Amino acid sequence: MAGTCVIGLQWGDEAKGKIVDVLTQENRMVVRYQGGANAGHTVVRGGEKFKLSLLPSGIFHENVHCVIAGGVVLDPISILAEIGSVTARNVYIGARNLSISDRAHVIFPWHVAEDHLTNIRCSSGEAIGTTGRGIGPCYRDKAGRSFAIRLGDMFRSDFAEKVRFIVKARQPVLDALAGEGERVVLDADAIIEEYSACASKLKPMVTDTTALLLDAVDADQSVLFEGAQGSLLDIDHGTFPYVTSSNSSGVGVPASAGIPPRFIRRIVGIAKAYTTRVGGGPFPTEQENAIGQLIRDRGHEYGTVTKRPRRCGWFDAVAVRYAIRLGGIDTLCVSLLDVLSEVGDLKICTSYEIDGPDGKYTTNVFPSHVEDLRHATPVYETAPGWKEDLSSVRTYEELPGAAKNYLHRISELVGCRIGIVSVGPDRLQTIFIPG
Ligand code: IMP
Repeated sequence: MAGTCVIGLQWGDEAKGKIVDVLTQENRMVVRYQGGANAGHTVVRGGEKFKLSLLPSGIFHENVHCVIAGGVVLDPISILAEIGSVTARNVYIGARNLSISDRAHVIFPWHVAEDHLTNIRCSSGEAIGTTGRGIGPCYRDKAGRSFAIRLGDMFRSDFAEKVRFIVKARQPVLDALAGEGERVVLDADAIIEEYSACASKLKPMVTDTTALLLDAVDADQSVLFEGAQGSLLDIDHGTFPYVTSSNSSGVGVPASAGIPPRFIRRIVGIAKAYTTRVGGGPFPTEQENAIGQLIRDRGHEYGTVTKRPRRCGWFDAVAVRYAIRLGGIDTLCVSLLDVLSEVGDLKICTSYEIDGPDGKYTTNVFPSHVEDLRHATPVYETAPGWKEDLSSVRTYEELPGAAKNYLHRISELVGCRIGIVSVGPDRLQTIFIPG
C-alpha cells in the first residue's frame, strides 16, 4: 500500500508545493483532490519560479502522471490559462502526463459573480475574505445538485440546455444580491460558446480518474496526494465559517480523490515555523505590530493568488497539535525556518485562556466554536532566537543550537516527529532528519 499525503497544518500557504515537488521523485502519480484555483503553489526549479494554482506540483517531473481528481472544482478558463503559461516555458502538459476527472464540478461565471457579491456579507459580521474564484458557490451547487454541472456533462448533447436552465434561475438571485452598480448580466449563449471551446481543448485529458486511481491502488503504485489550503480551513473541522468549502485537512483525502482510506501509508503534515492567515477569521497568535511586519517582509508573505498581505504571527502549538491529531500525521515538516533568523526571541503558543459563555478556562484543545477562538488569549513560552542565515544549511547538525531547540520544543508540544525542515524555496534547501 503506497499512498502518501501532503497536508497543510495551518491556514494554508505552508509551502506544500515545494515539499510535493521534493517528494515527487519517489512517486508515479501526483493527485490534486480538493479545492480549485483558490490555491497557490510556488515551485522553484533551478532558480526558475513557477506559480501553480490547479496543476499538481508534480507536473515538472518526467515519468510522473498528474491527476486532478473528482473532488476538485475546476474553472476551465483558468486551468487552460495555467497550462498555457507553463507550456510556454517548455514544460510538456498533455494527455500523456495529466488526467482531469470527468466528475470534477465546473465553476461558471455565476459562481464567481456570487462569490464576489456574498464575500462582503457574512452572518458572523466579519467578511470571510474568499479568493473570489467561485469556489464556495460551486461546492454549494454540488451539494445542492439541481444547478450543478460536472466536467463530463460538458461533452453531452444537453449541455447548452443545462446552462440556459441555470442562467434563468441564477440571474434573479444575482440581481437580488447586487448593490448599486454591481449588477452582473449572464449571457447564456456566450457562456455556452466559451465553455464548449474550453471543453474541446481539455477533452484529451478528461477521463474517469477514479478508475485510473483504483487501478493504481490495485497495482500498489506509489501515489502522492497533494492537499490544498490547510487543515484549519477545512469546511467541517476548521474555523467555520472562516474556512474554504472542501475538506482540506487529512480527513479529506480518500473521499475527494476516490480511493480507499487504507491505501494511505504515510501522511506528511507541513507547518510554517510561524503562522500566517489570509482572509477573515480569528487568529489568536497574530502580531499586528513590528514583529508581524518583520515576518511578512522576511517571508515575502503576500498571497500567491490574490497578492493580499498575509496576516502573520507566532507559532501556535495548540492549532498545529489539533491538525496533526485530526490528520493522523506521522511526519512533520517545518517550513520557512530561515525566515525566523534575526527576528529575536521567539514565542510559541502552548495553550489558550478562553473567555467563553460559561466563564474563563485554560485549554490546549482547539475550540470548536469560532467565537471561543476569537476570545482566546494565547499563553506563550519564549525560546531564544538565532541570527545565523540558514538558507545554505543542508543537515540538521549544521543548524544553530537555538534553531534545534526551537524545533525540538515544537515537536514536543505538537506530539509529532519532525522529519523535514525547509530553509528556502529551492528543492535543494531541504533538510531530511532520519527517523
Ligand atoms: P475560498 O476558498 O476562496 O472560498 O476562500 C475561503 C477562505 O480560505 C479565505 O479566507 C481565503 O483567504 C482562504 N484560502 C483559500 N485558499 C487558500 C490558500 O490556498 N491559501 C491560504 N488561504 C486560502
